[in-house]
Amino acid sequence: MIKVTVPATTANLGPGFDAMGMALSQYSVFECEESDEIELIIEGLESEKLTVEDNLVIKCMNKVFDYIGDYPKGYKLKIINGIPLARGMGSSASAVIGGIMCANALMDFPLSSDEILNLATELEGHPDNVAPALLGNLIVSTKTKDNEIIFRSIELFEDMECVLFIPDYEVSTKDSREVLPEKISMEDAVHNSSHLALLVLAFLNKDKTLIGKTMDDRIHEPYRKSLIRNFDDFREAAISSGAFAFSLSGAGSTIIAYSDEENSEKVKEAFEDIAQKEVISGKAIVIKPS
Ligand code: HSE
Repeated sequence: MIKVTVPATTANLGPGFDAMGMALSQYSVFECEESDEIELIIEGLESEKLTVEDNLVIKCMNKVFDYIGDYPKGYKLKIINGIPLARGMGSSASAVIGGIMCANALMDFPLSSDEILNLATELEGHPDNVAPALLGNLIVSTKTKDNEIIFRSIELFEDMECVLFIPDYEVSTKDSREVLPEKISMEDAVHNSSHLALLVLAFLNKDKTLIGKTMDDRIHEPYRKSLIRNFDDFREAAISSGAFAFSLSGAGSTIIAYSDEENSEKVKEAFEDIAQKEVISGKAIVIKPS
């Protein structure tokens, strides 16, 4: 029996739009074994929303079989979903990695890790969620002018926790990308590139003050705020409760604060207070990076 466990992820971390992502310790599990026919079982969180038809995991498995030019007779696949869907927590990246890894194992591991990441990026469109879903930790990645996916991993510090508010409402990545402008100003481009450069250094140096100062985006969050209820109130509440940084998680709807262990519960309570006051149904959780 093949068993693949894939973490949730948070992408962008403010200025790292389509370039930075971090694994979180919440997981989906994919179990697969050879069989005479194709059989799919879907269980777990929000499983009623996942369909057998057009299933993304199966689509990614087929992509691997087409790529290597070899096909199994059949297989039995069980998806145990643990990641909320369309909330900016990397649910589709987990399906992509789960599918590729199951197919690769089923066919006796023909793919190299570069091929896995390239296929995953092609399927997902950008590497910022699939890279940490595959490798864990905080990953900075890009596609070079020669179409090569390159990345570096940053190990996170022990006492960092993330406080998430996961609203019940969904925001699709498509809708969240449609509100983005086609062009940005030189000033905003310089703001983001300089902030991201220092943010990477801040994570490498475990410098929480610098993380807080540089996790500030001007090319997607200001536009996406219109889709996220009380975004600025959540930010203000997080920072005044002791979080050292805050961002929209991926394309939303989840928002995420970065905090020391000692302040996480306070931040979580502040999120719950806003949700109650503004009647936003959802759930606040404290979670470690993975
Ligand atoms: N970087 C992507 C975005 C992540 O923000 O649109 C969601 O797929």
